[in-house]
Amino acid sequence: MQKQTNYNMTTRKVALITGITGQDGSYLSEFLLEKGYDVHGVIRRSSVDFRPRIAHLEGKPHFHLHYADLSDSMSVLGVIGLVRPTEIYNLAAQSHVQVSFDSPEYTADVDAVGVLRILEAVRQLGLTSSCRIYQASTSELYGKVEEVPQNENTPFHPYSPYAVAKQYGYWIVKEYRDAYNMFACNGILFNHESERRGETFVTRKITLAAARIKQGKQDKLYLGNLSSRRDWGYAKDYVQCMWLILQNEKPDDFVIATGKQHTVREFATLAFHNVGIELEWQGEGADEKGIDKATGKTLVEVSPDFYRPTDVVNLWGDPTKARAELGWNPTQTTFEELVKIMVDSDMKKVAADDAAARVRVNLEEYLEKGIVK
Ligand code: NAP
Ligand code: GDD
Repeated sequence: MQKQTNYNMTTRKVALITGITGQDGSYLSEFLLEKGYDVHGVIRRSSVDFRPRIAHLEGKPHFHLHYADLSDSMSVLGVIGLVRPTEIYNLAAQSHVQVSFDSPEYTADVDAVGVLRILEAVRQLGLTSSCRIYQASTSELYGKVEEVPQNENTPFHPYSPYAVAKQYGYWIVKEYRDAYNMFACNGILFNHESERRGETFVTRKITLAAARIKQGKQDKLYLGNLSSRRDWGYAKDYVQCMWLILQNEKPDDFVIATGKQHTVREFATLAFHNVGIELEWQGEGADEKGIDKATGKTLVEVSPDFYRPTDVVNLWGDPTKARAELGWNPTQTTFEELVKIMVDSDMKKVAADDAAARVRVNLEEYLEKGIVK
């Protein structure tokens, strides 16, 4: 996959995206290809050679993939030296907060030192004045929040191994900007979701479960803290902002959020409403239940298994600066539209999986009976 070509010989803009196989990486790739960029992405070797979020882009003329890993500085140096990008979007991370409690050291290596590896590679390769860098910072930095809503001046109080690692990433970007005059920026993005969101993040877990319950494939959904509040936006809108940050006149840091906040409970209520099930909530804390008003069946229960050792419960972003300085519209897709997009997609996915399973069963039966050979 990696061959010795000097990719940056043309006047085209050349983007290198780490985390290209993830939710944001896939949308950003589509966005940049549309803008005429050469898009290069970092992938990791996996035993399954299929990358569902970018499969539709593989093979396109201006789309290239390279093996590297943020925990391996030589590979980072190698891919940046090979591609000589004009823009780097560092989206790669162990991005699951709960998992960061289970794998704190790995999370620190990738989410903290990984950022340093990229900055240092750019510096050592002499690309400081030709390459702009976007770092995927996060609202998790506000953690145990010290004010609401949160803006660029709100103090940080990281509250998980993930957030502590990301805080290092945030500060090392600012440090390289000041020390070496690099165009390096932090996008402090609040939660953004989509039909491509990983299935263990709470929104996707809910929309998939609502679709499965509606189609008789699942009895119940178990969740953790229902009262946790998030500022949820649509990932497709947020990748535009990553690009805008790097097109700005000067390097700077921006909060990207919708400015609206909802609880996990509200997200679940709306997701079930979108499949035609009205939930009524009864009880409190670990005894709270979401009951189907029409049948009286309990469809949602709380399981303390999904409680976190420390949980961030009150994220609410103030996108005033991004709106004023970048001209970004934080409410292109409303909360209601986002939930509907995700539910509609999961309703189709569950039905399609079911149809595929039926074909498999039929095929197995036909093979058994010797109807097809
Ligand atoms: P995601 O879907 O979990 O994608 C993470 C990406 O990072 C995947 O492509 C993954 O590759 C890659 N990756 C993980 N470890 C790596 C390593 N050691 N070396 C190279 N690549 C590695 O995350 P996302 O939602 O798109 O988020 C993108 C970035 O924004 C992350 O840095 C996340 O922390 C940050 N962020 C996200 C949100 C949000 O709400 N989505 C908000 C604020 C900040 P594999 O496919 O091989 O695992
Ligand atoms: N995952 C999950 N699963 N979360 C649950 C559940 C559950 O069953 N039940 C309640 N929650 C609560 C969590 O405790 C948390 O307070 C909230 O729902 C959101 O959890 P996640 O969807 O896992 O996202 P996150 O906010 O922890 O992290 C995401 O957003 C960050 C930006 O604020 C990730 O995308 C991070 O990478 C990102 O930085």
